Amino acid sequence: MGKGLLIVFEGIDGAGKTTQVDMLFPYLKGRNLPVVKSKEPTDGPFGQQIRRLARTRRSLSPEEELSLFIEDRKEHVSTFIRPALKKDKIVIIDRYYFSTMAYQGALGIDPYRIKQLNEEFAPIPDLLFWIDISPRIGLLRIKNRRRVAFSTFEDEDYLCKVREIFSCLNLPYLIRLDGHTSKEVLSNYVRNIMDEVIPSLMVS
Ligand code: TYD
Repeated sequence: MGKGLLIVFEGIDGAGKTTQVDMLFPYLKGRNLPVVKSKEPTDGPFGQQIRRLARTRRSLSPEEELSLFIEDRKEHVSTFIRPALKKDKIVIIDRYYFSTMAYQGALGIDPYRIKQLNEEFAPIPDLLFWIDISPRIGLLRIKNRRRVAFSTFEDEDYLCKVREIFSCLNLPYLIRLDGHTSKEVLSNYVRNIMDEVIPSLMVS
């Protein structure tokens, strides 16, 4: 692997991941750093299938759901993430396999089995920002933003279980951010961490 960096944002729905990615990306670009961004589920065929299913009722078994997310990620890793890292890019991703551990884990699948399955093909991130927020507040934000029907993933009891799994992740590269903090304060905090980390990680 080259000198690229893999930076991941995770959290339950409404935590503010996409906002933080959208604030960090232009900041790094403005510093002339070779940065690219992406998200999961992707817009590829498996990602589209996932979104279609999420709008209808949950009709898949947890294992079927797990394999769809894994197929989507395999494609993402081989066509986007690995090639970008090889070109020494800073790759920012909005959701990654920790979402699978938490969301499909909350359906009863062992999160550590999910982790293992993913790490057979997916590179481990250099930094994982977990934006932690209470499900009630996350759901309120979504409601105010969209005024459309909730997807099958957006249910308070379910998101409590998802959050619980995120909170049990004990990983050396994980940084917890308090999602109840304002987006500007959070973004400054993330920038400071990136400013510190980029020189040291990119040369190692
Ligand atoms: P989300 O990031 O909310 O996408 P968007 O806002 O663009 O629709 O992702 C959609 C849902 O997919 C979200 O509720 C979490 C769920 N999800 C999983 O259950 N497992 C996974 O591995 C991933 C990546 C997402």
